[in-house]
Amino acid sequence: MSIITALEHVVDREHVYPFLVPKQAPTLDVSHKVLLYLEGISVSFDGFKAINDLNLYINDGELRCIIGPNGAGKTTMMDIITGKTRPDCGSAWFGQTIDLLAMDEPAIAQAGIGRKFQKPTVFEELSVWENLELAMADDRDVWSIFNARLNSEQSSMLLETIELIGLQENAKMPAGRLSHGQKQWLEIGMLLMQKPRLLLVDEPVAGMTHQEMDRTAELLISLAGRHSVVVVEHDMDFVRNLAGDDRTVTVLHQGSVLSEGRMSKVQQDPKVVEVYLGE
Ligand SMILES: Nc1ncnc2c1ncn2[C@@H]1O[C@H](COP(=O)(O)OP(=O)(O)O)[C@@H](O)[C@H]1O
Ligand SMILES: [Mg+2]
Repeated sequence: MSIITALEHVVDREHVYPFLVPKQAPTLDVSHKVLLYLEGISVSFDGFKAINDLNLYINDGELRCIIGPNGAGKTTMMDIITGKTRPDCGSAWFGQTIDLLAMDEPAIAQAGIGRKFQKPTVFEELSVWENLELAMADDRDVWSIFNARLNSEQSSMLLETIELIGLQENAKMPAGRLSHGQKQWLEIGMLLMQKPRLLLVDEPVAGMTHQEMDRTAELLISLAGRHSVVVVEHDMDFVRNLAGDDRTVTVLHQGSVLSEGRMSKVQQDPKVVEVYLGE
């Protein structure tokens, strides 16, 4: 099957593929060290408040874990940041100057916010290398990227990324033959090819083996600094591993922040204990 036929099979027109969006990012101002501001955000679905006066601040380069029981509003929060859902009230700023609520999904992706969904969306028929190449398509026509030669900056970025996600041995393998965990890493790699400033990752370790979970924690930790990373996760052991004792963990409950701080502190917060025991 040709690459183009393969792509036509898998491209879902409802889905916003950030790498299909032309790059021309507005200027990001993080002079106050804060990359993302969510303030007073609420959203209701049929009268039910999924997000309720939410305030959240993510620093530039930070790795933040967000935990909370099912239905806490974690995915809805990501939907708001990426423009998929419009809040009823509140504000959402990317740095000092970029008003996310005034932008649509492609513009937000273009501004430097990448999102990893729960289910991997790699191109199964294409090789690992081709998936990464495709993810790099910028102003060039996606269909012609495979015919164009990569410049040296692009090839070194691709090599660096494939090593970072630990798939250099699998470069030529069709993505469809990767394990579930490897597909998740490939998709993270694909997001990285767009050099996002903020990466949103929703429940990355669901369905992974323990070994894959440890490797995923290492990978996400290695991204912090160069990128800001917000990881939503349900699995407490994974979050403990990821947050260590020097990162901030936010507990979401009924659409607002229930507790926030170091993992050791948050875990002992009676409000958090109650919510998790009551599950
Ligand atoms: N599009 C929607 N329409 C109606 N209800 C929704 C919609 N999206 C989310 N909800 C509801 O909002 C609440 C929060 O959901 P969600 O953000 O998916 O929680 P989490 O990701 O923390 O498990 C849930 O009660 C869910 O049923
Ligand atoms: Mg969710």
